[in-house]
Amino acid sequence: MIVVAVIVAAGRGTRMGAGRPKALLPVAGVPMLRRAAAAFAGHPRVVTVVAAVPHPDEARAALGPLASRVTLVRGGPDRQDSARLGIEAARDAALILVHDAARPLVGAALIDRVIEAAATHGAAVPALQPPDTVKEIDAGGAVVATVPRERLRLAQTPQGFRAALLREAHARAAREGHRATDDAALVEWAGGRVVVVEGEPRNLKITTPFDLALAEAILGAEDNRSVAQD
Ligand code: C5P
Repeated sequence: MIVVAVIVAAGRGTRMGAGRPKALLPVAGVPMLRRAAAAFAGHPRVVTVVAAVPHPDEARAALGPLASRVTLVRGGPDRQDSARLGIEAARDAALILVHDAARPLVGAALIDRVIEAAATHGAAVPALQPPDTVKEIDAGGAVVATVPRERLRLAQTPQGFRAALLREAHARAAREGHRATDDAALVEWAGGRVVVVEGEPRNLKITTPFDLALAEAILGAEDNRSVAQD
């Protein structure tokens, strides 16, 4: 089964406030896009890696030696467009993994779980149970309800899909003007069944400078641990 990873990396990173595309920013010295691409390019079950980027030349420089392993396409005005453009470039895929470059610490075990579940069930999303108590509020900011969290999940990426299912959901959404913030939501909207696999706390999404500092702290702690074990 040909597995293709599509990395969406064309966001402007406004909330990061760095004045340049977030995926090109270094995390402990290595650009986010290169870290994310390396996780998939180095995975034994992933055949091809596609990345939707704002500027192919800048992305090539950020990828360094990995650039020859990654097919670059220009992204679109929002995430959904970037994902669709990446998927269009993943022509021979039987299974597509869509991943946010903003999750550069994704690991091989998580990629395996998603591939396995998507191949079996058609669509799979990794997710975590919210660790905090969840409140629903009204327009004025007052609590309306405390929402039971047993059945709530925080979705991560990579999200895996049989290629035909994902292509059809994107095509229909484009035709009907439907928008969603992740690919699983499009497949759900199109009537598909999406199963959940266990996500990883380490697979955090980098949105703000705080998240970037957190990712660097995780990598630093892991480095220290491996040096201590040597
Ligand atoms: O902005 P946010 O971090 O939520 O975006 C999620 C992912 O979607 C990021 O990896 C970002 O680069 C990507 N994206 C994209 N094209 C856009 C907007 C976001 O590829 N136009």
